[in-house]
Amino acid sequence: MIKTANFESIAEAAAILRDGGLVGMPTETVYGLAADATNGEAVAKIFAAKGRPSFNPLIIHVMNLAQAGEFVEVNEWARAAAGSFWPGPLTMVLPKLPPSTHPAGGGDVKGGISELASAGLETLAVRVPSHKVARALIEAAGVPLAAPSANVSGTLSPTSAAHVHDSLGDKVDMILAAGACEIGLESTVLDLSGEAPLVLRPGGVSAEDICEVLGVVVGYDAGDPEAPKSPGQLLKHYAPNLPVRLNAIDVREGEALLAFGRTKFMVGPDFPAEWVRNLSETQDLHEAAANLFAMLKSLDGSGAQGIAVMAVPDVGIGVAINDRLKRAAQK
Ligand code: TXA
Ligand code: MG
Repeated sequence: MIKTANFESIAEAAAILRDGGLVGMPTETVYGLAADATNGEAVAKIFAAKGRPSFNPLIIHVMNLAQAGEFVEVNEWARAAAGSFWPGPLTMVLPKLPPSTHPAGGGDVKGGISELASAGLETLAVRVPSHKVARALIEAAGVPLAAPSANVSGTLSPTSAAHVHDSLGDKVDMILAAGACEIGLESTVLDLSGEAPLVLRPGGVSAEDICEVLGVVVGYDAGDPEAPKSPGQLLKHYAPNLPVRLNAIDVREGEALLAFGRTKFMVGPDFPAEWVRNLSETQDLHEAAANLFAMLKSLDGSGAQGIAVMAVPDVGIGVAINDRLKRAAQK
């Protein structure tokens, strides 16, 4: 059931989490499907609800760098990145602390992160969200929260409570509603566990900004679909049902239009309005990111036979927009 986020509903949601239930949680990026990361059975419910393959690890949401340090090795890069980008849309992949040195207990020891959450890897993905409801929920639950995007695996990520309900229905015990997500695209996944920093998924924080803060070249691994480092790199992902055609300079028979900027040269005045969505009339990339998933969803249900998408510049958060569009267009 959907409840408006307030002091009471957050306390109720925190109790559900402590009891091993699932909560739809608003964040600044997309809505997450949260469970107590230290409870293996609760984490297993996430995989079941999403139909997510169990080799695909989850992001652990914590209050701050100190809490992340209970579970992962915080290196110099992580400290610098956290100083600039946390709280916010950056996920860091860091080496897991060995269970013996784990202040809160390790592995499936009480207080430690469930092995299932990290899919048995040697690394763990951690993020400190900035959304005040997410922060209040983590604090009230008193445990780190494992939370993937709150959608059925392989479909578009949810940017509103209604999207979560449409995708997961009663598989989630409560959905906390707090309007539309400000950023609208998932966090940047940055692997800081290796020789050099590597972006595994472009997102809310651009690789350029990370380079500047870390003072080193940050690699970008778009992923080999045959052997993805990060399962989000599975090519068929973030997909609407309709075929998506990128870099369109015209609209073909039966197609709806996902525009970026002026549409005057794309469609005539008698083109049905419900078949056109504009990511940003003023070509503002942040506005476009915030609109992307909701607009793809609404065109997906418009009755058109395909979606033509105008080109979006590949700079800043545009890199993340194009990453999602490419995956949406994959047949
Ligand atoms: O913005 C976000 O990150 C949202 C909100 C809810 O926080 N969450 C999200 O989670 O997008 P999810 O599960 O949809 O995506 C997590 C990504 C996946 O691509 C996963 O493979 C990758 O992070 N990941 C998680 N742990 C990893 C690890 N140890 N090594 C490499 N990639 C990892
Ligand atoms: Mg996802």
